[in-house]
Amino acid sequence: MRVIITGSAEQLAEAGCQIVARQLQQKPHSVLGLATGSTPIMLYQQLVNLHRQGKLSFKDVTSFNLDEYYLLEGTHPQSYRYFMNEYLFNAVDIDLASTHLPACLAGEDPQQSAVGYELAIQAAGGIDLQILGIGANGHIGFNEPGSSLASRTRLKTLTAKTLADNSRMFRPDEYQPDLAMTMGVGTILEAKQIVILASGAQKADAVQHMVLGAVSARCPASALQLHPNVTLIIDEPAAAKLDHADYFRQAERKAQTL
Ligand code: F6R
Repeated sequence: MRVIITGSAEQLAEAGCQIVARQLQQKPHSVLGLATGSTPIMLYQQLVNLHRQGKLSFKDVTSFNLDEYYLLEGTHPQSYRYFMNEYLFNAVDIDLASTHLPACLAGEDPQQSAVGYELAIQAAGGIDLQILGIGANGHIGFNEPGSSLASRTRLKTLTAKTLADNSRMFRPDEYQPDLAMTMGVGTILEAKQIVILASGAQKADAVQHMVLGAVSARCPASALQLHPNVTLIIDEPAAAKLDHADYFRQAERKAQTL
């Protein structure tokens, strides 16, 4: 796993933005896997800035988001569709018809929706570049601890920890779903390239386990150790418990000289 330790949230976003921009410049028809949450917001802002400067187009991009709350319509302000429209899709030239989230609405069969999502990813040629965040409990997407490391898109029950972490997004009187449709760990591992972002001390334990802990369903992100092309971009607080952090810094300095 390539580990980039950055000095600030802005540098973290910039490092991620460079990788996405390079991908789209090399392959304008890329298939992107996208994440929501607080961490990628600045990355999306930087991509929007590049687009506004005329340096980046999303016109031929297809996207698949990791997850969506069960039964939340895309018009709901807490839905991930709403988030993506707000932070990225409506601010760039992507064709909204080419953007996908694993939504499962009232009256739809969750299993059929899940299989349909997997088939749509395959039909698009698979994901070229997947953006991920990590939960404080080591989840990726909504693959909570205990998820099979071979799992595919399905409905997952959210843990009390995830519900508490995400409750900040919901008003006290607002319904917070405790189920979400999420790509599986196996789905994520099929992406050709993965960039995972983590910021803040609350992610330090999960980062340490993901990079150097046992590959285990205890920390679903640890499955990324089995993927040949993962870049982890973190800030200093998220790196605080990472053994060998100096080695990772040294390796990055060396890479700059090659
Ligand atoms: C979001 C997602 C989640 C988040 C994770 C971190 O689509 O799949 O795995 O990436 O919960 O969230 P933040 O960035 O809010 O700390």
